[in-house]
Amino acid sequence: MVTAIPDHPLRVLHLEDSLADHGLVKAALRRSGMEFTLQHVDTLEAFQALVAHNLYDIILADYRLAGFTALDAWQHVAQLPQHPPFVLLSGAIGEAAAVDAMRLGIADYLSKDDMVRLPHVISRAIEVQEARRTREQAVEELAASQRRLADLTEHLQTSIEQERAAIAREIHDDIGGALTAVRFDIAWIGRHATDPAMQEHAAAAADMLQHAIGASQRIMMNLRPPILDQGLVAAIQWLASSFERRTGVPTVVRTSNGSVDIPAEVQLVAYRTAQEALTNAAKYAAPSHVHIDLADSEGVLTLEIADDGCGIQPGMRDKPKAFGLKGLQERARTVDGWLDISSQPGKGTCVILSVPLPEHDNAPPGGIHQ
Ligand SMILES: Nc1ncnc2c1ncn2[C@@H]1O[C@H](COP(=O)(O)OP(=O)(O)OP(=O)(O)O)[C@@H](O)[C@H]1O
Ligand SMILES: [Mg+2]
Repeated sequence: MVTAIPDHPLRVLHLEDSLADHGLVKAALRRSGMEFTLQHVDTLEAFQALVAHNLYDIILADYRLAGFTALDAWQHVAQLPQHPPFVLLSGAIGEAAAVDAMRLGIADYLSKDDMVRLPHVISRAIEVQEARRTREQAVEELAASQRRLADLTEHLQTSIEQERAAIAREIHDDIGGALTAVRFDIAWIGRHATDPAMQEHAAAAADMLQHAIGASQRIMMNLRPPILDQGLVAAIQWLASSFERRTGVPTVVRTSNGSVDIPAEVQLVAYRTAQEALTNAAKYAAPSHVHIDLADSEGVLTLEIADDGCGIQPGMRDKPKAFGLKGLQERARTVDGWLDISSQPGKGTCVILSVPLPEHDNAPPGGIHQ
């Protein structure tokens, strides 16, 4: 019984140069009880014109025809988008030819002596085709959704960086400026005060202000990476020394003797990668040493942050509310780079960012330049 036929009469195209055999197909379809329209064609040209201008649910084709074979017809059909399944309906063609035909993408082969199975073969071919289309559609939808997600991530990250830079500017201009002015005034008061208690209070206030100025500078550094002013090497070194100061973990930075300019957006991705890897090392790894390697050989910038801590526990990287490493992967993609994370329990974790750098004809000699 035919099960996978569409809800309209089945549109069948039959490529066959024997009228008698065409009659047999028509009879087999009638016997199956299904509703169908059956178009008969026997030349390659007419076949090509029909499939180009009409929709069919299935094509049945004899193997040897006058001056061509079903494979010539299939070659034409296979190029059409959304083509119907193509079934060989022929006298004996030999097992090897049938296998070859299937390898080329032909849906099925049925011997003319076995015509009683025709409805079943049609049904199965349509079912397989439908399943393949659904699968292809799902894969396409998934790819489109991943592209949209990557675009959104890129947009969000750009917005976050812009927002951070704006906040840093405001802290610098409004708060930083005001704190510095107040510190001068307090110092003036301290110098001109004769009362020792007033001098003491002025000195305490000046200390407090110095502390607040230091804090606002630190916040600015975190919001707007210093690479923007001082270059990637300086920024990575600054990250490493603040990490070492904060955690007490010896942190070594090594840089190569490359000679290319690094675009600002790549510097930012590299900076954020080092920042997140170091934050993770401080939060989870309990390392005794951290090594950072920055190299730009053969047109690829690589940044490696390796700790010798406890390593990432299995399954932890994919835990639901952890966005650090996933975010780094997305960030790397925004500059056509990639991130490799390797980790062994008890042996530490290594995060490597690689980004191809644009070709540069007039690169100045020396180390990594910004
Ligand atoms: N260097 C490391 N050593 C040991 N474990 C690590 C290290 N880096 C990451 N992990 C483990 O991998 C998990 C995922 O890290 P990830 O940075 O993606 O997220 P998170 O740090 O938990 O959260 P978020 O970064 O979003 O604040 C961490 O929760 C931690 O268990
Ligand atoms: Mg993290």
